[in-house]
Amino acid sequence: MKDSNSNTSSSSNITRTEPLGQNIIKLISNLCFSVFVFSVLIFTVIAITYQPPDPWLQSSPALTNLFTQSQNATFRIDSSIIKTGEDLSPSPQEPPLPLPPATVSTPAVTEAVIEKAEERIANSTPPLPSPTACVETLNCSDPRVLLAVQRFNLRAFKSIAFFDYQTPVNGSVAGECDVAWRFRNKREKSWRKYRDFRRFRISVTDECKYKVVHAGGWHSGSNARRNMTRTSGGKGVKTLPPRVSNRDDEINDTIPTLGSESNFRNGKYLYYSRGGDYCKGMNHHMWSFLCGLGEAMYLNRTFVMDLSVCLAATYNPSNKDEEGKDFRYYFDFEHLKEVASIVEEGEFLRDWKKWDKTHVKKKKVPVRKVVTHKVTPMQLKKDKSTIIWRQFDAPEPENYWYRVCEGEAAKYIQRPWHALWKSKRLMNIVTEISGRLDWDFDAVHVVRGEKAQNKELWPHLDYDTSPEALLEKLKGMVQPWRNLYIATNEPYYNYFDKLRSNYKVHLLDDYKELWGNTSEWYNETTLLNNGKPVEFDGYMRVAVDTEVFYRGKTRVETFYNLTKDCKDGINTC
Ligand SMILES: *[C@@H]1O[C@H](CO)[C@@H](O)[C@H](O)[C@H]1NC(C)=O
Ligand SMILES: *[C@@H]1O[C@H](CO)[C@@H](O)[C@H](O)[C@H]1NC(C)=O
Ligand SMILES: *[C@@H]1O[C@H](CO)[C@@H](O)[C@H](O)[C@H]1NC(C)=O
Ligand SMILES: *[C@@H]1O[C@H](CO)[C@@H](O)[C@H](O)[C@H]1NC(C)=O
Ligand SMILES: *[C@@H]1O[C@H](CO)[C@@H](O)[C@H](O)[C@H]1NC(C)=O
Ligand SMILES: *[C@@H]1O[C@H](CO)[C@@H](O)[C@H](O)[C@H]1NC(C)=O
Ligand SMILES: *[C@@H]1O[C@H](CO)[C@@H](O)[C@H](O)[C@H]1NC(C)=O
Ligand SMILES: *[C@@H]1O[C@H](CO)[C@@H](O)[C@H](O)[C@H]1NC(C)=O
Ligand SMILES: *[C@@H]1O[C@H](CO)[C@@H](O)[C@H](O)[C@H]1NC(C)=O
Repeated sequence: MKDSNSNTSSSSNITRTEPLGQNIIKLISNLCFSVFVFSVLIFTVIAITYQPPDPWLQSSPALTNLFTQSQNATFRIDSSIIKTGEDLSPSPQEPPLPLPPATVSTPAVTEAVIEKAEERIANSTPPLPSPTACVETLNCSDPRVLLAVQRFNLRAFKSIAFFDYQTPVNGSVAGECDVAWRFRNKREKSWRKYRDFRRFRISVTDECKYKVVHAGGWHSGSNARRNMTRTSGGKGVKTLPPRVSNRDDEINDTIPTLGSESNFRNGKYLYYSRGGDYCKGMNHHMWSFLCGLGEAMYLNRTFVMDLSVCLAATYNPSNKDEEGKDFRYYFDFEHLKEVASIVEEGEFLRDWKKWDKTHVKKKKVPVRKVVTHKVTPMQLKKDKSTIIWRQFDAPEPENYWYRVCEGEAAKYIQRPWHALWKSKRLMNIVTEISGRLDWDFDAVHVVRGEKAQNKELWPHLDYDTSPEALLEKLKGMVQPWRNLYIATNEPYYNYFDKLRSNYKVHLLDDYKELWGNTSEWYNETTLLNNGKPVEFDGYMRVAVDTEVFYRGKTRVETFYNLTKDCKDGINTC
């Protein structure tokens, strides 16, 4: 492991014990042991920071085990993406938890809805003119056109729920209509919706009925793009209040301000200053963040949040820790703002300083400083100070935020997983890729990288994920010539070429332009980053790769599907 940097130096200090009194020796060796255990932990955290991370889903219970059982120091972590709140919500078809009024949603368009609309039209409008006249007067805004499209979509995309159709508009030539709608994959657990607009060629049958004869691909109906919610008159078409559309289409992750000074003074804050979690892996980071946010919720305080994330080397192409990553690249800040009381650290410090400057000593903001995680949240419950400031200046691992939530506190503090959703910007890329594959693809997850090289712990993995073995195994599970999405940490693009003799292979890098310098993602993240372009880093890659995999129809996992080796090494399953 080449990154034996500053973090591991603590292990070199612990070998120097001197003969003192028995008790003292005992004490010291106990201490040494725990230091050792923790340095192993730290080392393990670093050890997994080894290039391409595995796109492996890890649930929050698994994370809980991971960190709570760390005393054993035998665990091995996958550098994976964490499952976030939208994955953990109880039922896909119900909105998770209290939603703001703006998200209260129209029901999905189903066959029953279409039939009802048909009845209504039959009763209210005159029948179509004679067959010859039908052909000349394909009128996209005729509600029957929309119904034909809706019916077509329901049959063509069984895994999608459709919402909020807009009145069709003319396509590029006569006989075509462009239609826009919102949708959600039924497998998706999030309540979020995405937009699609497609071009349909419509013919009129002898019975003078509209029929879709051809449907364009993902986002082909450019005339129906935008401009959707504005008017859309007509029967059977849902007109939405504009706020809903803003929420769905635009991402509002501006940093909220506290407003007036008295707003600041009347608030109650919980402020965690930067601790040992900084520059750790994303899982560690979020495990800690959610502890702090959980404590703030328990104390009924506003959590002071540092949006600037330092991501450990694992995820960075540069293979160095990188500071200054924005929380909003990875997670949905808009959602967080809605469900939790938070204030951005910079705003908070500015207002605090301003207050103290303009007020004499006695009226300065009351602050309670807490210097060790051993002071429990329960002890702070009665504290009336405006600011409770937890400082994490002790040496590692005493300076991890998540230690606040250990022991007795774990009974009182709930990590608010529901507050953490994946970034909509990343999910837009996921949706775009799945959409281009028409939501009709199978997926295989191929773990290689470090594990494939480690023959001791994973004796068969390398062979079982070799192109020949893969092809043989997949033949039994995936029909020939299906679209096959391969989620993998194998860096060599052509590694899977052999599969192309049987499948239409798709890899994340086939979609580079979705985060390239002409993409929406690029524009938007650049804007967040004060005009500097943002790198599409390893964590983002794994997040997108994993989520696309998850949307495949047949999903083939590496462990237990492709190989008998255990996920966590030999004899762990
Ligand atoms: C720690 O390791 C011991 C022996 O290896 C095992 O019996 C025990 O269950 C482990 N504890 C945890 C919390 O994993
Ligand atoms: C198209 O249909 C809509 C709705 O039925 C109607 O209001 C409109 O006048 C029609 N346009 C033409 C050119 O027939
Ligand atoms: C749509 O096309 C039809 C003929 O194909 C035309 O009569 C109608 O005016 C067009 N509508 C709009 C809004 O351009
Ligand atoms: C909507 O379309 C009209 C013309 O059809 C155009 O003038 C207007 O600028 C569009 N609005 C937006 C927000 O794109
Ligand atoms: C974005 O959200 C903030 C609240 O967090 C709100 O004050 C602001 O008006 C919103 N901006 C837009 C353009 O909706
Ligand atoms: C939380 O504090 C606010 C005022 O700061 C108060 O109105 C509210 O009732 C408190 N809620 C709980 C559950 O204590
Ligand atoms: C985008 O990237 C390509 C190649 O990476 C480069 O040639 C091009 O100049 C870039 N365009 C902009 C606008 O930065
Ligand atoms: C990105 O921004 C550039 C310059 O502002 C603009 O020309 C381009 O159309 C934008 N691209 C997308 C996909 O929004
Ligand atoms: C992969 O393995 C799991 C568990 O053994 C099994 O349920 C699933 O059906 C397998 N997938 C395929 C595609 O065979």
